[in-house]
Amino acid sequence: MQILKWVFKLFFIYSSFNVFSGMQAQRSPIVCSEADRASLLGFKAKIVMDTTEILSSWVGTDCCGGDWEGVECNPTGRVTGLKLQRPDRGAATGSGMYMKGTLSPSLGALQFLEMLVISGMKHIAGPIPDSLSNLTHLTTLVLEDNSLEGNIPLGLGHLSSLKALSLSGNQLRGQIDPSLGNFRNLNLLNLARNSFSGPIPSTFISFISLQSLDLSFNLFTGYIPDFVGQFQNLTYLDLSNNLLSGQVPISMFSLASLSDLSLSHNQLTGTIPDQIVGLKSLTSLQFCENRFIGQIPESISRLQNLWNLNLSRNGFIDPLPVIPVRGLPSLLSIDLSHNNLSLGPSFSVVNRPVRDRFLELFRPI
Ligand SMILES: *[C@@H]1O[C@H](CO)[C@@H](O)[C@H](O)[C@H]1NC(C)=O
Ligand SMILES: *[C@@H]1O[C@H](CO)[C@@H](O)[C@H](O)[C@H]1NC(C)=O
Ligand SMILES: *[C@@H]1O[C@H](CO)[C@@H](O)[C@H](O)[C@H]1NC(C)=O
Ligand SMILES: *[C@@H]1O[C@H](CO)[C@@H](O)[C@H](O)[C@H]1NC(C)=O
Repeated sequence: MQILKWVFKLFFIYSSFNVFSGMQAQRSPIVCSEADRASLLGFKAKIVMDTTEILSSWVGTDCCGGDWEGVECNPTGRVTGLKLQRPDRGAATGSGMYMKGTLSPSLGALQFLEMLVISGMKHIAGPIPDSLSNLTHLTTLVLEDNSLEGNIPLGLGHLSSLKALSLSGNQLRGQIDPSLGNFRNLNLLNLARNSFSGPIPSTFISFISLQSLDLSFNLFTGYIPDFVGQFQNLTYLDLSNNLLSGQVPISMFSLASLSDLSLSHNQLTGTIPDQIVGLKSLTSLQFCENRFIGQIPESISRLQNLWNLNLSRNGFIDPLPVIPVRGLPSLLSIDLSHNNLSLGPSFSVVNRPVRDRFLELFRPI
């Protein structure tokens, strides 16, 4: 009986809540702010061609009603998210889609914006508008795989709430301004596949929360900064295909969460130290096409999760380490070609069953 009472009570509360909220919805439907709608239409106006047909859904007055593809709002009708990604409808149709035009500065007036993603549009060119530095609530800024040009606007350094910044796959160039080191909460930074040059700024030292850093396929010069070794939560680090020189800072080998490390195709020198064993979570190690020398340390065999090892095109010398029987249990792919190692001319890539071959090849000479 007591239980029944409760059931009735709950039912009553539930149904009156529903009536109440239903009335609310009828009385004051969320309508998008006039200012935000104008900003979005300003963006649309600068896109002169849209074969994705996303923007053709942007009609009518209520940009928060759910019809405007890619637009998200808060309960007061302010736009909090703009997420425009090239539809991935199979290679045949998806790859032909694009938006052509420029990024309107009017995007910088979407005061409440937290997430801005415009990616894969291929033919959006011109600069990243300075006005984006007014978007102080922004936590995610992703402008990947467009044709954006110029440098990163200095003002972006003010966006101290940013957690993810990706500008990869554009035609951005120039040195990275030190003021860009202001993002204390940054988890992800991806500037890959552009033409950025100059050193990795020393102000990047403040990115202590970083989990993923990709600067690959640029023209970065100078040393790998020692402070990278302080990014204890880093799981992904790709600095490959740049012009980096000098030795790998020893501090980097203490990154216990790092699972992917690629430094391929730079001008790095020095040896692989015993401390490599500190990279406990490592699954993939790519050091090819550098100027590394010396012997491959035996401690590499204690990397339990390593499945992909590529040290090709360096100056590594014999003898190869003696790998214990249980060493490198996860290894699937190893490439030691084009070094000064006595592996025989046919040795280049080994796949399963790699373990026996690997042991064989690693026997001392
Ligand atoms: C940022 O907003 C302020 C105030 O609305 C405006 O005066 C300024 O021009 C904006 N900055 C940019 C770079 O658009
Ligand atoms: C690293 O990750 C842990 C666990 O998610 C978190 O508690 C810690 O605050 C992170 N450290 C930094 C510097 O962000
Ligand atoms: C190792 O890296 C080189 C250079 O990037 C590449 O050509 C080769 O295919 C890689 N080896 C394997 C096994 O992936
Ligand atoms: C390659 O190894 C041989 C024999 O160990 C040595 O004599 C030679 O100097 C090495 N060459 C280089 C470039 O290290």
